[in-house]
Amino acid sequence: MKKYNFDKIIDRKNTDCIKYDATEQFWGVKDAMPLWVADMDFETPDFIIDAIKKRLEHPVLGYTYKNKNHFESISNWLKKRHDFEVAPEHISGSPGVVAGLNLAIREFTEPGDEVIVQSPVYFPFFHVIKENQREIVYNPLKNSGNKFEMDFEDLTSKITPKTKMILLCNPHNPVGRAWSKEELSQLDRIAQKHNLMVVSDEIHADILVNDKAYTPYASISDYAAQNSIIFGAPSKTFNIPGLATSFMIAKNPEIKKRYDHQLHTLHLQKGNILGNIALTAAYEKGENWLDQLLDYLKENIDYSIDFFNKEIPQIKVYRPEASFLLWLDARALGMDNEELKDFFFNKAGVLLNPGYTFGPGGEGFMRMNIALPKKELEKALKKIKKAVDKHMKE
Ligand SMILES: Cc1ncc(COP(=O)(O)O)c(C=O)c1O
Repeated sequence: MKKYNFDKIIDRKNTDCIKYDATEQFWGVKDAMPLWVADMDFETPDFIIDAIKKRLEHPVLGYTYKNKNHFESISNWLKKRHDFEVAPEHISGSPGVVAGLNLAIREFTEPGDEVIVQSPVYFPFFHVIKENQREIVYNPLKNSGNKFEMDFEDLTSKITPKTKMILLCNPHNPVGRAWSKEELSQLDRIAQKHNLMVVSDEIHADILVNDKAYTPYASISDYAAQNSIIFGAPSKTFNIPGLATSFMIAKNPEIKKRYDHQLHTLHLQKGNILGNIALTAAYEKGENWLDQLLDYLKENIDYSIDFFNKEIPQIKVYRPEASFLLWLDARALGMDNEELKDFFFNKAGVLLNPGYTFGPGGEGFMRMNIALPKKELEKALKKIKKAVDKHMKE
């Protein structure tokens, strides 16, 4: 079994990489260590690079399409990794998950309809609702002290005749919950009662870092299967988001047909040659690499949590069940949004995602990406400690 080296430090600068090369453009910061965008500082696995290289030996990069094997490889992966049965004919494509969310919102809601989100949540959720002239309804998560939970009472109270859809993040970015069967069943009962469609972003499903299973939303009940769309991708799992190749699952053929109509209208069904090659290579050959990645991420998470608890107790950290993102509660530092951002970016010299960008409930928090070599992670944590120690003395 091949052993992979996640300790290797790779210089990603000057590769048109958002995380390193666009920090000034996005945040006005030049030299802070970037632990923001959710990709990993590890090598994309060799079996993916090799498959791409092999394809590039052929001199023509003409029009491509997603062949039978493409959909079968997704179906097989979901079965072997998550015991989730999905027939290849229930799977379709999407350039990215966010693009797919847009297609779903456009097809299954009307302008002026209300769409529910559970904030703090991945911020493009807000854009896909607002930019399509739909209304955002916030159903903030409850913080029980040690973990975040869905607030079903609040959810029920917010539903009106204009509410048509719930945008679910399962597992959840940024709070790291892999929602339990019970939680999803409760959500499903509410969706069923109010005739809501659930669009579930399951892009982090493979990154299970706390021995907890992930429950695909469509596996919860017949209603969920027939009234939902799931989005997934190899992009987070195998560090290939630059290849813009994702997939969607609709067990209801009518929903699939309507989604595909949107996809075809925009001529997005073909995908790109290298992304299609990468997806099949990932799902056919990726298990060993992924298992080793998860072990490494777990070590990074353990190390970080231990470090925060012992060295920076002013910042409370939540152990994620899924994803390589840590959700940090920095409210005890007593800073407002701008001060906290300035503190991390300029005083500590680390670029983390400010919590307020994830919507209501995110204020006073920061999101930290720990998918990087341990030596670099240690460096980042020490920078935070130094700045917090100085702040406490001031
Ligand atoms: C929950 C979630 N959905 C979607 C994405 C991005 O998906 P894509 O690049 O396929 O649009 C991310 C990336 O961070 C994410 O965390």
